[in-house]
Amino acid sequence: MEEQEKKILCVGLVCLDIINVVDKYPEEDTDSRCLSQRWQRGGNASNSCTVLSLLGAPSAFMGALCGGPVADFILEDFQKFHIDVSLMSEHAQCVPPTSVVIANITTGSRTILHMNRNLPEVTAEDFSKVDLCQFKWIHFEVFVSKDVARHFGFLSAEAALRGLYGRVRQGAVLICAWGEKGADALGPDGSVVHSDAFPPETLVDTLGAGDTFNSGVILTLSNGGGLQDALTFGCRVAGRKCGFHGYDGIAENSAN
Ligand code: FRU
Repeated sequence: MEEQEKKILCVGLVCLDIINVVDKYPEEDTDSRCLSQRWQRGGNASNSCTVLSLLGAPSAFMGALCGGPVADFILEDFQKFHIDVSLMSEHAQCVPPTSVVIANITTGSRTILHMNRNLPEVTAEDFSKVDLCQFKWIHFEVFVSKDVARHFGFLSAEAALRGLYGRVRQGAVLICAWGEKGADALGPDGSVVHSDAFPPETLVDTLGAGDTFNSGVILTLSNGGGLQDALTFGCRVAGRKCGFHGYDGIAENSAN
């Protein structure tokens, strides 16, 4: 198979995002109105596939899908972005994992409440059946998100990378993006590579910015680019994404 025809495979979550756009974060125990509300296909691997597609890279998703009308909505949206879903496993009896998101356009913050009731993860056995030759890159979780880093008590990308590096396989490169602080990467030689952030003129929607960053990095590395270029491109695309709702605008702006 020609190298250019090979796809990038993202393994992980697809879920339903119910996005409530507000201009002021609601107070507890109040009844307020949103500026708008929408359904969006979400989940880390699913979002990364969307962005890769918009950047012109063929992508494939591997993960579990629920049944019912939400599954139809998700499948239709995967099709719209020409994402290969032949490795997706369907679980008709399962409830869709769902995130209720409060997206505040005044600050750009996104607050996520997520629930996965009974949809299983793909297993190592499922993965062992995959014909790996179709893919030029396979993404699981190497990247450390800011949310995970903070959960472990780290206050910066560099602290997270140095603190977690001992847990990854020898020779690995660990990457962590930190919103408006940009992103850092740490490789086996112990030196940290950094890119500043590229914030948009107006911060509108940060939901999926981390997944977008990952796609930019993966795309650059899978095309043979270096780590510094990958971080810089990841920060550029993620910054651009924060300037509009959803992901579609990435394609319109990808020449910039
Ligand atoms: C954004 C996202 C959402 C999803 C949530 C799950 O990064 O992938 O689409 O609801 O994270 O944690």
